[in-house]
Order: sequence, then structure tokens, then C-alpha cells
Amino acid sequence: MITLQMKLSDIVKAYPRAVDIFNDFHIDYCCGGKDHLLDALKELSIDPKSFMDVMNKKLADAKNKTSNGEVLNVDQLMDMEVPDLIDYIIDTYHTKERRLIAEIDGLMNKVLLVHYEHHQSQLVSLHSLFSDLKKELEEHFAKEEKLVFPYMKKSFSESKSDGYVKELEDEHDAAGDLIKEITACTNDFKAPEGACASYRMLFEKLNELIKDIYNHIFTENSLLFPKYEGGR
Ligand SMILES: [Fe+2]
Ligand SMILES: [Fe+2]
Repeated sequence: MITLQMKLSDIVKAYPRAVDIFNDFHIDYCCGGKDHLLDALKELSIDPKSFMDVMNKKLADAKNKTSNGEVLNVDQLMDMEVPDLIDYIIDTYHTKERRLIAEIDGLMNKVLLVHYEHHQSQLVSLHSLFSDLKKELEEHFAKEEKLVFPYMKKSFSESKSDGYVKELEDEHDAAGDLIKEITACTNDFKAPEGACASYRMLFEKLNELIKDIYNHIFTENSLLFPKYEGGR
């Protein structure tokens, strides 16, 4: 049973379908996974009782899927050893997000050019935020794949004080801040009235990327890192 005193990450571990509800309410369960539900609700001025009513109803209604048909298989991920979990993260999240970033990059440039006259303020801000996010993620993935993850695979069974977890968590926070700005800039991924197919596709792909990043950061911050550090 979910209580207001639970940490967000523990709620997702116990009820992966809660991800959809957290996304709907803009509750940050990935970078903010260590926060307690009550504090997260207060921060967003959400009435706890109404939220719990929605949460319990949705969790009772939903079968075993999230809105995009996928569910975080937390039980299976929690059983993995550090090296296997790292391979899973690269194969699943890094691969998919690299593909989405490339698709969005092309669409972004096209939509910026075609709709510059009428949607300049939204598109210039979005272009700049996406460029920053792309840069952050590409450098972050390279650091994980070439430096930190190989090190973690070798040293996960030893005691360590390498500071890598803190570094990666800080980078996740920076990406999380950009994501919040992108969500606001796109009015929660709602394309303007009468937007063309490319404009709508751009927003859909951005939304897909951001939902994937949330699951990705959750998997690293709340599953991989505690496992690496020996149960935090
Ligand atoms: Fe990653
Ligand atoms: Fe990461």
C-alpha cells in the first residue's frame, strides 16, 4: 500500500505503473527519487488526499502497462548484478535515446526554419534547450560508457570511495532541469493550434525522449547506484 511517507523511488519499485501518474502530475521520481511523496506534493501544491484518490483509482484500474505499453520491470532489474544492469541500461536507454536525439535534431531544424515567422519565441527557446540537452546527454553517455561503467563493472564487489555516483547524479540533475524547462516551453508537449504534422511529430518525439530519460535516470539513481555502493 502506498503511503505519503514513502520515498518516490520506493513507490516506483513497488508499483512501476505509478510512473504514469507521476508524469501526469509532474512529480519528479527520477532525480527526486529520494524525496518523500508528501514533500513532493507540497512542493507542487497538490492536495495529498485528492492525489491519493487518483493514484489508488488509477492503480486499481490499470492492468500491468504504462501509457506507452511498456512497464518498468523493476523486479527483474533489481535481481541483476551490476555488470548486467549496466549492459541493460546501455542497450535499452542509451541506444533508444541516441536514435530519438538524432530524429528530433533533424525535425527541430526543419520546424524552426518553416515556422520561424509565426512561432519564433517558442521555437528559438526550444531549439536552445534541446541543443543543451543533446550536448549534456551525449557527453554523459560517453563518460558512462567509456569511463565510469567499465570502472563500475570491475570494482562493484569492492569497497570504494570514487565519487563517480555523485558526479553522475549531479549530471542527471542538470539534465532534469533542462527537461523541466522543455516541458514548460512546449506547454506539456501540446503543439500549437493548427500545427503541421512535423511540428506535432517533434513534440511527440520530445515527449517520448523525456519519458525514456525519466525511466533511465530512475534505473541508474535508484537501482544501479545503490547496488553499486552496496545498498544505500
Ligand atoms: Fe545512462
Ligand atoms: Fe546517467
